[in-house]
Amino acid sequence: MTILGIETSCDETSAALVENGTKLLSLVTATSQEMHQKYGGIIPDRAARAQLKSILPVIHESLQPLSSNLKPQNPTSSFQRLASKVDALAVTVGPGLIGSLLIGVETAKSLALAWNKPLIPVNHLVGHIYANWLQTDQQPATSHQQPDFPALVLIVSGGHTDLVLMKDHGKLELLGTTLDDAAGECFDKCGRLLGLPYPYGPYIEQEASKFTVNGSQFTVKLPRPLINSKDFNFSFSGLKTAFLNEYNKLSTVNRELRTVNLAHELQEAVTDVLVAKVLKAVKEFHPKSILLAGGVAANLRLRNKMKLKIKNCELKILLYVPPLKLCTDNAAVIASAAFFQPNHRSVSKIQANPSLTITSV
Ligand code: KG4
Ligand code: ZN
Repeated sequence: MTILGIETSCDETSAALVENGTKLLSLVTATSQEMHQKYGGIIPDRAARAQLKSILPVIHESLQPLSSNLKPQNPTSSFQRLASKVDALAVTVGPGLIGSLLIGVETAKSLALAWNKPLIPVNHLVGHIYANWLQTDQQPATSHQQPDFPALVLIVSGGHTDLVLMKDHGKLELLGTTLDDAAGECFDKCGRLLGLPYPYGPYIEQEASKFTVNGSQFTVKLPRPLINSKDFNFSFSGLKTAFLNEYNKLSTVNRELRTVNLAHELQEAVTDVLVAKVLKAVKEFHPKSILLAGGVAANLRLRNKMKLKIKNCELKILLYVPPLKLCTDNAAVIASAAFFQPNHRSVSKIQANPSLTITSV
């Protein structure tokens, strides 16, 4: 079964073809990052305007792998002819920015009606999880084992930090969430304060990687909020404030040194908390696999710390970390989620919902 996925929840415009939920045939993503770099963040209506321009060309390009068996004549109807080989469409319905979501949802509805294909609505957060089911060029089918249930999932993105127990496809239990800011948001706000470029998270990681214990001439210490709390919730807002205080205290220090030290300690604080909560949940729920998902899962320090802790605890659990390009927002994970959780709805009932939570259907 070949599903065409469409994702426009934030500033990306992405379309992908995925076969049977696991085999990635194409992934095309346009971003308005350059524009946001100029302003230091996303301006929702500008993002939506850019998405409106790129959505049809992006979808058309994503369908190209299906052109190999089509006769070359009749190029004008190529969109329609390529679409005849798609079995269903899938689209992100939320959470996200309303203007951006509407562009993906309304385009997908129009195409589904015009092509007479089913349309499967997908929760963006659930989509992130399915990055762990996809095979890419770097992960050939033979080496890719699908995660076993129950799986413990840490979804860490710019807008969400959720710890979820996944008992099966479609059976999700939210164990904990952030009480205020998301982990990615914390990286982003602190990165902005340091004067790093947008998107801030990868630049925090880059700066932190320059840190060596010997090279640091002073100690920055940030709190690890809720690290020992009895529940599985997170809180990153206080960490942001503590970061600002440390930043101000170091105003006379060489700027480069200050940036590296602060970025390093911030990354350590965030990853310490995330790893500690995952381990606490492992002890209580005994999952067979641990899955990382969302943009912050691209962070190598988080991946390595998690790997090391699991190894040190001698836990017989497989850790899944998605390929880097599938951590951040993309349509491949949406197509995969639609295959495994086919939430059939008539096209007229499908609507964008910016405030969906991970467990809402
Ligand atoms: O999942 P995503 O692409 O979009 C949302 O759904 O929010 O996540 C974006 C977030 C941003 O906060 C970005 O700074 C963060 O993921 N991020 C990273 C890294 N790459 C992206 N944070 C830390 N280290 C990274 N390498
Ligand atoms: Zn996302």
